Amino acid sequence: MDPAQFWSTGDYAVVGDLWSAPGRELAAALPARGHDVIDLATGTGATAIAAARHQARSVVGVDVARPLLEVARHRARTAGVDVTWLEADMASVPWPSGSADLVTSTFGLIFAAEPQVALTEARRLTRPGGRIVFTSWSGTGLFGRIRQTLAPYFPDAPEPWHETREDIVSVTGPDTKVTEQVFTMTVASPERFVDLMHRHSAPIIRGAHAMGDRWPRARAQLVDLVRAAGQENGSEFRIPVGYLVTTLEV
Ligand SMILES: C[S@@+](CC[C@H](N)C(=O)[O-])C[C@H]1O[C@@H](n2cnc3c(N)ncnc32)[C@H](O)[C@@H]1O
Repeated sequence: MDPAQFWSTGDYAVVGDLWSAPGRELAAALPARGHDVIDLATGTGATAIAAARHQARSVVGVDVARPLLEVARHRARTAGVDVTWLEADMASVPWPSGSADLVTSTFGLIFAAEPQVALTEARRLTRPGGRIVFTSWSGTGLFGRIRQTLAPYFPDAPEPWHETREDIVSVTGPDTKVTEQVFTMTVASPERFVDLMHRHSAPIIRGAHAMGDRWPRARAQLVDLVRAAGQENGSEFRIPVGYLVTTLEV
């Protein structure tokens, strides 16, 4: 399916906000300050806006899904930061070569139909001495385990390339740094989280639709998984979520 149509399913902002901490932390840690930044598959712009807030010299946010970019544009205006939003496929970005010190992508580049093509484009956009930094869900973290829980329902689905250091390096090459990180995701309850994903996360909406009457069983498995992965904290439920940060020097 066309990625713009796919990612416009549901209201991504609702679920994307649950996992926006890694992007905000990335913008602070890199740091983005003083750099020209391009954020690929920016979605609702959390990482791009964080880079602008951390005084990047310039920020471009690229995404294929127009409704998500509209949210991003509105949020940047509200935050009072300047970001250029480009509606484009990350495999072919209409922006000059060597124009960024930093090309970032939080949980976005991993969805490229052809990762090698997206990486080649990311390299083209990066000037010599710059870096490409992207995040992915680790196989041992919550989202890796959600995928693994649903995998038996989709025996023909391709294996992801971004859940382990070894798999990432096999795509990106040996000069790659991969670090494991964890952030805490706060939700109302395991049930509310799974139902929120079912309403607003495009992969889960589409997956549940394809499952038909098998969805209630899958939902119960996901609720059990989430419950075992976190703990209650007053009226909230907190889950430590593992992810990987990959850095390529250009
Ligand atoms: C899981 S979301 C991540 C969004 C955002 N980076 C974040 O951290 O919340 C994946 C994003 O990849 C975008 N995307 C998927 N395929 C794309 C493509 N070929 N070109 C550009 N963006 C794409 C989707 O529109 C969506 O915004």
